[in-house]
Amino acid sequence: MKAVGVKDGSNRPELMQIPQPTPSEGEALIRTLRVGVDGTDREVIAGNYGASPRGQDRLILGHEAVGMVEDPNGTTLNSGDVVVPTVRRPPPEGANEYFQRGHPDMAPPEMTLECGINGADGFMCEYFTSQPEYLVEIAAETARRGFLIEPVSVLEKALELALSSRSSFQWSPETILVLGNGSLGLLTVSMLADSADVYCLGRRDRPDPTVDIIERLGAVYVDSRETPVTEMAAGYEPTDLVFEATGYAKHALQCVEALAPTGVGVLLGVPEPTRFEIDGARFHKEMVLNNKALIGSVNAGKQHFDAAVDTIESFPPWFLDAFVTTVAPVESFHDAFATGDDVIKTAVEFDSVWTDWLTQPLRVISSGSTGDTTVRQ
Ligand code: NAP
Ligand code: BGC
Ligand code: ZN
Repeated sequence: MKAVGVKDGSNRPELMQIPQPTPSEGEALIRTLRVGVDGTDREVIAGNYGASPRGQDRLILGHEAVGMVEDPNGTTLNSGDVVVPTVRRPPPEGANEYFQRGHPDMAPPEMTLECGINGADGFMCEYFTSQPEYLVEIAAETARRGFLIEPVSVLEKALELALSSRSSFQWSPETILVLGNGSLGLLTVSMLADSADVYCLGRRDRPDPTVDIIERLGAVYVDSRETPVTEMAAGYEPTDLVFEATGYAKHALQCVEALAPTGVGVLLGVPEPTRFEIDGARFHKEMVLNNKALIGSVNAGKQHFDAAVDTIESFPPWFLDAFVTTVAPVESFHDAFATGDDVIKTAVEFDSVWTDWLTQPLRVISSGSTGDTTVRQ
């Protein structure tokens, strides 16, 4: 079957032929529909992050997937169920306490594998197998945008951690600063723009499609070359909540200066090695005397995937059209890895026929005494 992977030592994705997997007992066979691409994939391809599975010299990419159950193989799933896989799997030594307690997202890197990123093959192939516990069922109508559920789940977890860190007193963020206008940054703006005053910081010249999206969502675009993070509080206003989605290491510390008293900074980026000096005492004092918090957050639990489904449904329809700039058939997968100012979110499509069919509206037909039935044509 066709798969998109990256060989060790190479820094470009390739179309590969690999055997179609056979599900073991307790696993279902899933037909892949679409798989998204994000900044982490680009870091993996560049060789800066992640690793091939043990004993392999290549990694099958893709961790933002949506698929359809092809063969339930005796599991609780049904043929045709639409599913989104979670990313983390137990390491070769077996399930540790994080997996046993149902919180693999809280495991440190050495106690988990990540499909398509770190030590386990991803979903950028025609079929994959999975135990039901690593799949989240979604409505068929969501199949087309299902590859956005994983990145939004990351934001759901980050928001939950931020809110729970302030749960001992009344706190509700009225101003939010999103650092980064890449795919994660724009999803954050879309998720939060209705609930607070949102600023989004980037470094792009206008006209730019990401700036258009930020402004159409009702948020304010801030050019970091004119107003660096450290000047945000003076130039605009102090912020209750910062989401760092740049992977730029200085932002992790500088964002503290943008925070209002009791503010929370959530760090999501995975930086490249960088060394710089900071005024440690100033940072320390600022955190303590203003009751500020900095939280790192990675990956997400199944409850965050469920929450992400509702969040995506609440996005304005125009947002998805503007945000997803490329859905490339697997034969043209390179198009989904292209970068440029007009590229925002991309995905590789493995099965357009099923994706289209699943997302057709349901039609109600009357079937007499047995009641109404819904069908797709
Ligand atoms: P992305 O599409 O590459 O976006 C990164 C964005 O940050 C780009 O728009 C880039 O601007 C901007 N940026 C970088 N440095 C900047 C600076 N100094 N000032 C202003 N803007 C800057 O990546 P992504 O998919 O959105 O992911 C963002 C980060 O989150 C990555 O490090 C990724 O690995 C990480 N991530 C973490 C998790 C998690 O679970 N914690 C989940 C997903 C992603 P330009 O485009 O103008 O260069
Ligand atoms: C993925 C997460 C993963 C993180 C760190 C992100 O791009 O969406 O699931 O935990 O990278 O590898
Ligand atoms: Zn990701």
